[in-house]
Amino acid sequence: MTLNSSEIRQNFPAVFTQAYLNTGTAGPLSRPAAEAIELWNRRQLNEGRSNFSVYMDEYIPMQDRLRQQFGRLFNADAGEIALTLHTTNGMNIATWGLRWQSGDEIVTNAHEHPGGLMPINAVAQRFGLTVRSVPMPVEDTDEALIQRFARAINHKTRLVSISHVSWKTGAILPVAEIAAIAHRHGALIVLDGAQSGGSIPIDVKALDVDFYAIPGQKWLCGPEGTGALYVRSEAMADLLPTFAGYPTQKGLDSEGHYLPVSGAKRYEMGTVYWPGLAGLHASMTLREEIGNDALYGQIQEITATCREMLEEIPGITLTTPEQHAGLLSFSMEGVVADEAVGKLAEQKIIIRSVHEPDLLRVSTSFYNDESDVLRLRDGLESLRSV
Ligand SMILES: Cc1ncc(COP(=O)(O)O)c(C=O)c1O
Repeated sequence: MTLNSSEIRQNFPAVFTQAYLNTGTAGPLSRPAAEAIELWNRRQLNEGRSNFSVYMDEYIPMQDRLRQQFGRLFNADAGEIALTLHTTNGMNIATWGLRWQSGDEIVTNAHEHPGGLMPINAVAQRFGLTVRSVPMPVEDTDEALIQRFARAINHKTRLVSISHVSWKTGAILPVAEIAAIAHRHGALIVLDGAQSGGSIPIDVKALDVDFYAIPGQKWLCGPEGTGALYVRSEAMADLLPTFAGYPTQKGLDSEGHYLPVSGAKRYEMGTVYWPGLAGLHASMTLREEIGNDALYGQIQEITATCREMLEEIPGITLTTPEQHAGLLSFSMEGVVADEAVGKLAEQKIIIRSVHEPDLLRVSTSFYNDESDVLRLRDGLESLRSV
């Protein structure tokens, strides 16, 4: 289904001030999100923030609705969703909460983002663990990659920590196959969903993964300081709450043991920025009104259009495999990626570079249209004519 992109674009004013091709860093804030944040800021200003009935009748139900929305996004139960502050927050909760013992192993890969990599390196340092990093040659097929993971995962592996979509190459990793290998060895698997959450359909049950962290500010076009972590209900016994606080506990039992609330809410803590949650809720409601499946279809279409355009430019080599999400990475003969990003930004064409491998990266989402792709083409052509 092709959506009416000009109508959709009205909800994202930032796409009119630039060729907005860097959702992978941060999506344009949606108009409903901005309006909800403004409304709640004004209410807080005028009504204060200590009215208990607002808390009980509005804030708490809004959080519940948001967990339900994330449940639908992940194909999970709302009880398996913890609201978080960003992807990195979710990756930390999932990594720190396991009962680590010296000698345990973690398997990851050479292309991971610090948001997932740093938590595993920090736990490794604290508990005396081994981190095995699977190499990621860009020419690898899925089958070759699965074989690499099969060789790295063994009976000492407790956690596999990888992205669903690579932030460097845009590749969709064969996570269901890797999850199956992890589980055969008694290991758990956490996915960094920073580049998949909102860009491709996610079915945590079909993938059979244990934890899945996503942000609110990228493909979901919500505000900063928002995100979600899926925790498979059967994995909650293995994942202890590293942080505990007032909203997520039932008190202490007669022997003084901490009793967490049921469900993934136990991984949340403390007071959050309520206008931010209202903003994310509004953005996700907009997506659901348009239709998540239609949005994913639109992302595939516009990304394919962008890929065709890039393939026609002499000297460009695409790194992203044929099966893409919303990211396309490529190199361009005679062009230094970091410099190109700056020169394109001067023309209000916003993309980014990544390193190791050094590439340019374009993000295309459902609010991008052909005019953005054409501007990018002209911008890239102009780099060569300098
Ligand atoms: C793959 C990946 N993981 C994690 C992050 C960090 O995201 P957040 O700021 O939501 O923690 C990013 C951000 O670009 C990313 O691309």
